[in-house]
Amino acid sequence: MGEQSDTFRTRAIHIGNQIDPATGAVVPPIHLASTFRQPGAGVWGEFDYSRSGNPTRTNLQTTLASLEGQDCVGSLAFSSGMAAIHCVTMMLKTGDHVIAGCDLYGGAYRLLHKICNRSGIEVTLVDMTDPGAVDSAMTPQTKLVWGETIGNPRLSIPHLAELAKIAHRQGAIIGVDNTFGTPALLRPLEHDIDIVMHSATKYLGGHSDCLGGTLAVADQSLFDELYYIQNATGAVLDPLSCFLVARGLKTLDLRVREQSSAALQLARWLSSHPQVKAVLYPGLEDHPQHAAAAQQFDGGFGAMVTFELAGTKDQTAKACESTRLFHLAVSLGAVESLIEQPATMSHASYDAADRAKFGISDGLIRLSVGLESFDDLKRDLEQAISKALES
Ligand SMILES: Cc1ncc(COP(=O)(O)O)c(C=O)c1O
Repeated sequence: MGEQSDTFRTRAIHIGNQIDPATGAVVPPIHLASTFRQPGAGVWGEFDYSRSGNPTRTNLQTTLASLEGQDCVGSLAFSSGMAAIHCVTMMLKTGDHVIAGCDLYGGAYRLLHKICNRSGIEVTLVDMTDPGAVDSAMTPQTKLVWGETIGNPRLSIPHLAELAKIAHRQGAIIGVDNTFGTPALLRPLEHDIDIVMHSATKYLGGHSDCLGGTLAVADQSLFDELYYIQNATGAVLDPLSCFLVARGLKTLDLRVREQSSAALQLARWLSSHPQVKAVLYPGLEDHPQHAAAAQQFDGGFGAMVTFELAGTKDQTAKACESTRLFHLAVSLGAVESLIEQPATMSHASYDAADRAKFGISDGLIRLSVGLESFDDLKRDLEQAISKALES
């Protein structure tokens, strides 16, 4: 049985993974039942219907809550990362205002600008690394501030405690997407953030074989409201995916630290590459928010690396198409390395004007560094860049 005093790595393996009392199995069984026999008419046991609660989902949520740190009162598992963000936005009503980061995942941009706007919710995108700009954008209607602990795709790093102070002064809730950061390296609830979200599809699952999303909070009434919305609207994570995410969590710490270390080496190597204009990696001393990153992250700066090629849009696309080990694909955070061109792939759902305004240029390439060896990955990128720039 895991204890909260055990280390992160130990809790990831033991908490929420109790021995099955019926058989002694060291891996809890997967409960596929959609409904549960009740003790009597109108009498409710721990579980009654799988949308409202399922033992396999409870196990995963127990592990996740433990990994989000001492302040966490509970976590919820959703059918995707977008379903988790959507649940947060469903707390809003007509006339409310949202401030979101301008270095934002394309799907979150689309949800805020093309879906939430239909209910009369206003959105302002602000540079989250500039607390003064966030403060000035706050209005009496601002009910939610939404950021990313590592911005996407420019890998900007906001100072979480400063943003929390600004949001709370106005009575707004602050939530952050910590998909790139992972709870192994950063636990936003420890920095006064109200809601932490992950696309579990990425590092938590870790193997590109399931979709999922999570929320975790430090306040019981906020948890109750999010649970109410989740149960009322239904985007829960299915039991098989809960099992896959729970299995992924057992190796999260090991994977992310190893991947971060290879990412730092690749970022350093790319920085000295003559055909690379800029490298955006928070672990590099010349990253504009390196100091905030060093203060907030514990044991690594994440395994995402963005760089700008000294080439045209077509040459950038060619570089992404010419790798052998890095697969050309959206998504991230798994054992296999991925490469993509944000302007035409992960951030294609941005309006072109916003892409230009927020520095998502055609020459940007985003890498998700997997668990292959650094030497192999470097060689692969080297040949792809040369091939692209010859063309
Ligand atoms: C940072 C970030 N947040 C949220 C999401 C959405 O997650 P999902 O695809 O699981 O819905 C993604 C997906 O790529 C992401 O990269």
